[in-house]
Amino acid sequence: MRKNFENKTVVFPLPVLLIGTYDESGNADVMNAAWGGQCGPKHIALNLSQHKTTDNLKVSKAFTISFPGKKDVVVADYFGIASGKNEDKIAKSGVHVTKSEYVNAPVVEEFPVTLECRVISMTEELGELRVVGEVVNMSVDETVLDEKGSIDADKFEPISYDPTDHSYRVLGGRIGHAFRDGAQLK
Ligand SMILES: Cc1cc2nc3c(=O)[nH]c(=O)nc-3n(C[C@H](O)[C@H](O)[C@H](O)COP(=O)(O)O)c2cc1C
Repeated sequence: MRKNFENKTVVFPLPVLLIGTYDESGNADVMNAAWGGQCGPKHIALNLSQHKTTDNLKVSKAFTISFPGKKDVVVADYFGIASGKNEDKIAKSGVHVTKSEYVNAPVVEEFPVTLECRVISMTEELGELRVVGEVVNMSVDETVLDEKGSIDADKFEPISYDPTDHSYRVLGGRIGHAFRDGAQLK
């Protein structure tokens, strides 16, 4: 027996994307976004309502995306419930930022994996700002790399957002191999 929920939309799990931007005076801000993701080999799409971050994006045309780990839940959620319009979120959260060498956007030192992006399109649709960024650099702290130099998710335990109960969840362990496991049914 299946139950219908009409147009209630749940995509599970959603990412926890921390978007870093500068305003026109060079002040850094970071916001939490779940409605976004990869939309091409080196492209990131974001769906944003009106925020300090959207004001910043229109000026700077650049942003960073960081992925919080299990230890970062409180800071990540804070970035989603406070606005840079009202408070200095960088100072209050205690994180440290440096300017990306590639784009006009802040890199948060505490988050080990960061995509540094330049905005390539920005459209307003249904009252939302749809932003596409091209990744020009990914910087990764060496502490989360494995012996082959690849990102090891087990080392920073990235979190995801569960929209069914508004919780954050930690990613589970490896349970299969893409482009390979299905071959047994061919
Ligand atoms: C888990 C979570 C997910 C969120 N996802 C989005 C999102 O995808 N798009 C959006 O516009 N706002 C989203 N928000 C809300 C913004 O993060 C929030 O309004 C924030 O205060 C904006 O900060 P700013 O004004 O400093 O830019 C989310 C908040 C949380 C807690």
